[in-house]
Amino acid sequence: MDVFVTHRTSDFGMDEKKIPGDGVVTGYGRVDGRLVYVFSQDFTVFGGSLGEMFAEKVVKVMDLAMRNGAPFVGLNDSGGARIQEGVLSLGGYAEIFFRNVMASGVVPQISAIMGPCAGGAVYSPAMTDFTLMVKGTSHMFITGPEVIKSVTGEEVTFEQLGGAMSHNQKSGVAHFAAENEEHCIELIKTLLSYLPSNNLDDPPTMETGDDPNRMDDELTNLVPAESDKPYDMKDIILRVVDNGEFLEVHEHWARNIVVGFARLGGHSIGVVGNQPKVLAGTLDIESSTKGSRFVRFCDAFNIPLLTFVDVPGFLPGTAQEYGGIIRNGAKLLYAYCEATVPKMTVITRKAYGGAYDVMCSKHIRADINFAWPSAELAVMGPGGAVNIVFRKEIKAAEDPGKKAEELVADYREKFANPYIAAQMGYIDDIIEPQETRPRLIDALQTLLDKRETRPAKKHGNIPL
Ligand code: HXC
Repeated sequence: MDVFVTHRTSDFGMDEKKIPGDGVVTGYGRVDGRLVYVFSQDFTVFGGSLGEMFAEKVVKVMDLAMRNGAPFVGLNDSGGARIQEGVLSLGGYAEIFFRNVMASGVVPQISAIMGPCAGGAVYSPAMTDFTLMVKGTSHMFITGPEVIKSVTGEEVTFEQLGGAMSHNQKSGVAHFAAENEEHCIELIKTLLSYLPSNNLDDPPTMETGDDPNRMDDELTNLVPAESDKPYDMKDIILRVVDNGEFLEVHEHWARNIVVGFARLGGHSIGVVGNQPKVLAGTLDIESSTKGSRFVRFCDAFNIPLLTFVDVPGFLPGTAQEYGGIIRNGAKLLYAYCEATVPKMTVITRKAYGGAYDVMCSKHIRADINFAWPSAELAVMGPGGAVNIVFRKEIKAAEDPGKKAEELVADYREKFANPYIAAQMGYIDDIIEPQETRPRLIDALQTLLDKRETRPAKKHGNIPL
């Protein structure tokens, strides 16, 4: 669309330089037969920079995507606001930002960073649902290395500052790191395959060929008997979902929580799991932020949530407290409480303290809560609990070490299991690990027509 559009600026000799299309390609097409709107910035035209008419082209396809209920994909390769067009460029960006916000939660918005991107070219992606970067060739920053050097004296390369791995590993700004541009486009298509076209649609279902009744004996051996031994939660996820296919989101950032898309009995689901392999699966500032954003996306787009729990609690320390773990951890709690999509939870091992409540517990309206026999639901781990409750007895004992050991063993026997929670109905059933997949698919079938409402309001106030 709009290949004849050119800019209307004459300053800085721009009237001599008019290029049809004005540096952005816009239009629509189909991915797997489903309508998608797209823009692609052309760095060879004024550095892909955005001026008034460029912005009007982008805005036109964004409006069409909204009106027709289709996802919107932006391929970004731009130096940001076109300097020669001054405030007209800023106005153009603001029109895009406004539409990003209007479209949020209405149609999926996906951004790929395909080259050096600065200023508005990174702000708009930040407001979309997913950002993909290409290793080695894409960069994102608000201010570049030269400006940083002149202001703070700090020396940093493009790659260190805003390369794919910086934003995938350190800042969490990017959700995916592609090996090359072809891989990036493939990832976008795979991502779209899990998503509905808009918030009034259900996600597409697919015949995956994986038997819904498939049992998996290997699941029995994955959780170590010793509760402080790590294991990889992804092994469990891969064995439960259809064909072991899992599109991990934010794979490299906040790795103590795992989030991503999969299918269960052919239905798209969003999977969240604590990762015992990293920081013992504790919740910290970054993992809470990562988890809550994912939960909210799934809820906005009718994607059922499956949560695997093995969490010893929140990560202790001054860095966490000063960084606001209270406020940030509350985001995940808020997101789960707010979510009205089908919510299923499987506790594989630890579910301790506030983190038990947070990780999609029955009390915050999960629909189905299962626990494996290895589950431990308690206010805290045996060691910590005994030291608080029996501090005096342990101190007074002839052999304090032995006394503590005995008390820990008693506590473990009494609390480190799923049976008390199951007696209270907090757990709907204690299931054998090998039957996890059939039980979840069966449960999901019952939840597909779930309707749950929350009180009408303008919007809530998530602790940002
Ligand atoms: C006009 C621009 C431009 C811009 C680049 N070009 N950015 N023209 N407006 N914003 C032009 C260059 O003049 C050059 O033209 C060509 O594009 C290629 O740029 P190079 O600098 O040669 O390329 P490279 O070395 O790869 O560096 C890319 C870059 C750098 C890192 C993106 O160009 C850069 O720092 N640009 C400025 C970034 C910036 O500060 N933008 C404004 C942000 S403010 P010729 O004719 O020589 O080939 C903003 C406000 C939005 O966006 C609101 C935010 C909230």
